[in-house]
Amino acid sequence: MKFNILIVDDEKNIREGLGQSLTMDGYKVYLAENGKKGLEAINSNDIDLVITDLKMPELSGEQLLKKVTSTNPNIPVIILTGHGSIETAVNAMRDGAFDFLTKPVNLDRLSLLVKRALSSRQLVLKHRELEEEVKRLSSRQKFSSIIGKSAQMRKILEIIDQVADTKASVLITGESGVGKELVADAIHNLSRRRDNSFIKVHCAALSENLLESELFGHEKGSFTGAIARKRGRFELADKGTIFLDEIGEINQSVQIKILRVLQEKKFERVGGEDTIDVDVRIISATNKDLKDEIEKGAFREDLFYRLNVVNIHVPPLRERKEDISLLAAAFLKELSEENGKKIDGIDPKAYLALYEYNWPGNIRELRNCIESSVVMCKGNIISLEDMPPSITAESSSDYIKLTPGITLEDAEKEVIRMTLIHQKGNKTKTAEVLGIGRKTLHRKIQEYQLEAVEAKV
Ligand SMILES: Nc1ncnc2c1ncn2[C@@H]1O[C@H](COP(=O)(O)OP(=O)(O)OP(=O)(O)O)[C@@H](O)[C@H]1O
Ligand SMILES: [Mg+2]
Repeated sequence: MKFNILIVDDEKNIREGLGQSLTMDGYKVYLAENGKKGLEAINSNDIDLVITDLKMPELSGEQLLKKVTSTNPNIPVIILTGHGSIETAVNAMRDGAFDFLTKPVNLDRLSLLVKRALSSRQLVLKHRELEEEVKRLSSRQKFSSIIGKSAQMRKILEIIDQVADTKASVLITGESGVGKELVADAIHNLSRRRDNSFIKVHCAALSENLLESELFGHEKGSFTGAIARKRGRFELADKGTIFLDEIGEINQSVQIKILRVLQEKKFERVGGEDTIDVDVRIISATNKDLKDEIEKGAFREDLFYRLNVVNIHVPPLRERKEDISLLAAAFLKELSEENGKKIDGIDPKAYLALYEYNWPGNIRELRNCIESSVVMCKGNIISLEDMPPSITAESSSDYIKLTPGITLEDAEKEVIRMTLIHQKGNKTKTAEVLGIGRKTLHRKIQEYQLEAVEAKV
């Protein structure tokens, strides 16, 4: 990335001297002799950094600084100041200058300061790019709340799109916090049933008896406490969708009743004789392995097949790390707004920690991590210190963790991933260390979808 730097000074020698030095450092340099010309340059070019003198005719450095910070707050400004006017420089810092340099300018210090200013600028730009990507993705897809660009998530979005407008029962599986409920929401909202009710039942939260009457309703006097007739969730969901969350937790008698609804679209209220007909689409979710439950005799196989007409498996976050940057950017925007903070990005070390962590709590845990980092953050960029220690502890590890039970392919992927991180994304060195050719490495990076790692470090 080639950066554009604007130097504003009414002294020709200084302007050109600094310009030459920065050109030699590889930057594209623009020169202006006063604040007014400087502003014009900013408006007509993509300026990444401004270095400006304070006292100039037309528009002073202070005025230029104020214009830049109010219209382009993400362009860092470095102030040049003569000896004895440190106080003005300090005031300028208060007005939002990135830093100041005293004249005569020490070129090494200039070079260092410029690098520092630009690296924070780069973070801001990268973060903005991610935000744009989130926006672009969510406007292109109809399920704006599901964020993700990994192949696995794209596949899931495709399935949602295909099944939404059918009546097929959908079973959503996956670990806790992967976004199962979000998928259920999307299916209902994309279906023709969207204007009718969407009833959610958290099956694990209710005792067995309560669950039955909650789902199917009861007649007055059918049990102690049944003081009036009550309509159940299935009745309420008529013409709409019912979401049975944690379906793995329900007992046999409820299982039989649900099976009957699926087969005959009929049921009776608890303690009731009338048969009630309903037209309900059933979406269920579980983080259990229902095949195991069937083997243990805890879950009916016939019900399983009826619920699982379409299966959507949402993989854990650690298996689709490409989604981390997008999710983090989206949560950062949402949560910094919610907490009234202005945060422009996440620094590279903190990013790496997000990337290396295993995320047992999946996206819910990532969201919590970003929320806590936003709250703890003192500046406008999230750094490693702002993040919960539980997440940063795993980072900075030089070990490759391989658990017995994984395939050779997974092991290879992990070794390549860690070496890439260790070599800070340098592919030539990574290939060297691994003892393979650059082309082979390149192919494997594509095959294992490690491009995100490469970009991240
Ligand atoms: N792809 C995604 N994009 C944006 N937010 C997501 C995504 N996946 C999950 N989330 C967010 O993560 C949190 C957990 O998601 P959700 O409740 O859907 O998970 P779950 O799989 O139902 O978990 P559990 O099994 O614990 O009920 C929610 O705040 C949800 O909005
Ligand atoms: Mg859930």
